[in-house]
Amino acid sequence: MNSLVATSRNFRQAARLLGLDAKLEKSLLIPFREIKVECTIPMDDGSLASFVGFRVQHDNARGPMKGIRYHPEVDLDEVNALAQLMTWKTAVADIPYGGAKGGIGCAPGELTKSELERLTRVFTQKIHDLIGIHTDVPAPDMGTNAQTMAWILDEYSKFHGHSPAVVTGKPIDLGGSLGRDAATGRGVVFATEALLAEYGKSISGLTFVIQGFGNVGSWAAQLVHERGGKVVAIGDASGALRNPNGIDIPAIIKHKGAGGVLKDFKGADAMDAKELLVHECDVLMPCALGGVLNRENAPDVKAKYIIEAANHPTDPDADEILSKKGVVILPDIYANAGGVTVSYFEWVQNIQGFMWEEEKVNNELQKYMRSAFKTSRGCAEHMTAASGWELSPWG
Ligand SMILES: NC(=O)c1ccc[n+]([C@@H]2O[C@H](COP(=O)([O-])OP(=O)(O)OC[C@H]3O[C@@H](n4cnc5c(N)ncnc54)[C@H](O)[C@@H]3O)[C@@H](O)[C@H]2O)c1
Repeated sequence: MNSLVATSRNFRQAARLLGLDAKLEKSLLIPFREIKVECTIPMDDGSLASFVGFRVQHDNARGPMKGIRYHPEVDLDEVNALAQLMTWKTAVADIPYGGAKGGIGCAPGELTKSELERLTRVFTQKIHDLIGIHTDVPAPDMGTNAQTMAWILDEYSKFHGHSPAVVTGKPIDLGGSLGRDAATGRGVVFATEALLAEYGKSISGLTFVIQGFGNVGSWAAQLVHERGGKVVAIGDASGALRNPNGIDIPAIIKHKGAGGVLKDFKGADAMDAKELLVHECDVLMPCALGGVLNRENAPDVKAKYIIEAANHPTDPDADEILSKKGVVILPDIYANAGGVTVSYFEWVQNIQGFMWEEEKVNNELQKYMRSAFKTSRGCAEHMTAASGWELSPWG
């Protein structure tokens, strides 16, 4: 299902349950502003290449907006869906931000570092007058990282002067926050702990399957491993691996850090990547693309809990099938809100000109994640009682 259709369908359902005025519902489905820009750059071999970049600002009622992704599947609908999700996510996390997303349709792995830098700078030239400290603050997402944010900051500063708070997720030396790199994965793990506690369980002793081993997946895996969880299968774009005794996560991180490819790691057996999401486990964490759980594979999912670390990994058909099976799904707009929450902390530190210690960042993140869980759970219970619908196994 198209990501925008799926996201809008979920929103309409929530709006009905909340008893939202129909005019307000319609207005919240229309983005504040969307733009599409052509980015042509010289490649290293002297030829020219053109890419399409997008920026969608969905809503700014609660504050400035957020996020940037580089991926071949980036298009206007995908960016629109992600911008909308960001509005709901910042509200669930209760931080003073709205929702936006940007992206460039490109395969970052196929571009050299200097080509990526030129592309990022050209894109920034096209959107610099739309972003700003109090209007729209980009942050990393799939295919982008601290280096991307540094290029955006540098290019933006040529037009507007030194403005560290215009991007978050930047390198520490340029005003980045300690703990931001791990924040989404750490938030995913805090969210998982909060959910499991409802069922009298903890991470220790449970089995986990993780799809995606980039920023979010590798941090989530590492923190699950540190807490005694057993990661029995893992996968990324290169392939998938399993080990029923638990994969040695620090060893696989070392292997990747040394330039290795996940599928070539020797401490686990290769498996069919399609089997990963339906592999036996207690907790499934999709940490890569959207729409990976759908009507084809949902009936075969064996996990008891799904933590939506990626954005919209479960499409509405799968949601329905999994809920009927009694699988508990922790939604993306809560589960992966740790990244934007620490982006907010970074922005606050930049505006104050005062850097926090990492322990403070992590403690504050835990407080926000716990509080958002309590509020969302209360809201789900209230709506279950009011509507008579079976909204979630929490209700
Ligand atoms: N980075 C953040 O702070 C952040 C915050 C909130 C949500 N998210 C969401 O989390 C997800 C992952 O983001 P990230 O920042 O870790 O991205 P990333 O680019 O660092 O990593 C993406 C991972 O997904 C894997 N992948 C790509 N295609 C795949 C496929 N077809 N099958 C299996 N694996 C595949 C890649 O190999 C890589 O390991 C995205 O949905 C993103 O929107 C990220």
